[in-house]
Amino acid sequence: MKSTPTRALFPGSFDPFTLGHLEIVRQALAFVDQVVVAIAVNTAKKPLLSGEERQVAATQTLQAVGLGDRVEVVQISGLLADFCVANHIDVIVKGLRNAADFTYEAPMATVNQDLGGPGTVFIPSSPQWAHISSSLVKELARYGANITQMVEDKTAQMLYRALGTSPGAAPDLAQTGQQERK
Ligand code: PNS
Repeated sequence: MKSTPTRALFPGSFDPFTLGHLEIVRQALAFVDQVVVAIAVNTAKKPLLSGEERQVAATQTLQAVGLGDRVEVVQISGLLADFCVANHIDVIVKGLRNAADFTYEAPMATVNQDLGGPGTVFIPSSPQWAHISSSLVKELARYGANITQMVEDKTAQMLYRALGTSPGAAPDLAQTGQQERK
């Protein structure tokens, strides 16, 4: 008898999806059959990339390493807990790079369970990726720095394009109008 596949939800802003995020997906796939990467709305943030661009970037990153079959990338606009209930999600997974991440994530884990969603499993980032954040990647890309150790190549190109710069080129922030974006 074949049992139902176990499914984890990996939610975040993913602006953009980094190689650190990829490592969390890989670790989750060690204990669930499928991972759903959910590009969700964080009302405290103003993303650089559109939801569709972020979905494409995450999908390309996963496909580039052959994980496209076990991982789906979706955009969600409502509550995570509701999505989990409607989509047979067994567990939420989140990556932790440091203690500050735990302080930020722990209340969200409690709220998601209070709202009827599943529990959250925290996955520690390996030291190789623990210094990487989407904000840091965007900051470097803005200055035309090489970010290909942190994001997949096509994601890097997408960021340079969105920021109006290119590798090795200093941006004209006044012209690109990006100086207000976080
Ligand atoms: O990568 P982020 O920005 O830290 O991710 C935060 C995110 C998007 C997962 C969080 O804001 C979220 O869960 N948004 C969806 C709405 C929701 O369910 N809110 C209740 C839990 S805080």
